[in-house]
Amino acid sequence: MTVHIEPMTPLIGAEIVGADLTDLSDGEFATIEQAWTDHSVLFFRDQPELTPEQQIDFAKRFGELHFHPAAPHLETHPEVFVIHAHKDSKIANGNGWHTDVSCDEEPPLGTMLQLHTLPSTGGDTLFASMYDAFETLSQTLRDFLTKLTATHESEHIYRGRYAERGVIDTGKQYPSAIHPVVRTHPNSGRLALYVNPSFTTRINELNDSESSALLHMLYAHQQRPEFQVRFRWTQNAIALWDNRCTQHFALWDYWPEERKGHRVTIKGERPYYVPSQVPAQHLKLSKQRIL
Ligand code: SIN
Repeated sequence: MTVHIEPMTPLIGAEIVGADLTDLSDGEFATIEQAWTDHSVLFFRDQPELTPEQQIDFAKRFGELHFHPAAPHLETHPEVFVIHAHKDSKIANGNGWHTDVSCDEEPPLGTMLQLHTLPSTGGDTLFASMYDAFETLSQTLRDFLTKLTATHESEHIYRGRYAERGVIDTGKQYPSAIHPVVRTHPNSGRLALYVNPSFTTRINELNDSESSALLHMLYAHQQRPEFQVRFRWTQNAIALWDNRCTQHFALWDYWPEERKGHRVTIKGERPYYVPSQVPAQHLKLSKQRIL
């Protein structure tokens, strides 16, 4: 079977058809890797339920795996985060715009999620392109943002969050990190906005009210529907997203129904900024200024 790529919007997201993730040739893997760089989020439907080993093996083709600092995981495989919400849950993971674990010094470059149990309807995940969020800002604001850094924290998110799932965190220290507000993607060379409303707490070079006003403006801009793709899950579908250039939001609109699956994350590098070398024709939305 040949792997082919079906883009879902002009800016972000593509479905990969005809891929058996448990048995990919090097050529097929290279096609998927290039599609990931081009579309930022990939979706694979009609997959068998992967064993933890199969999911880990596929994810490891992109690099070493990352271990979540807080979340409940499989006892046998600490790198597998069990995503689970049901009628007694007090929280559902990812129910707010974020980039995974941006509080880490070296946040995960990518995340792979397979959902095994789905609600009868709802539970979609939305993804937004932070390339396009950045590229559609004015040149003046883009230049200013490249000079800034932001603090990303997790204490306010993780402390006690998974207590109902048996995670005891007394005495544990949760990570925080300082990252550039604009980061360069090491593969595409494009620039992406790298602040998110879940983990980012302030812009370091501004005073409190300036930081808060700028972050709120950027969050509102990032969430414009033009930058988004919305994935309606089917059983055992897989999403593979690039945390260096996207944010996502997992809708919890299905309570009291259940939604469950396995997530693994791929270790990333420390985010950095260098001026983009990408030719202007790749900046798809920048010419038609949507603001
Ligand atoms: C997450 O990793 O943020 C959860 C995504 C999802 O459950 O769709």
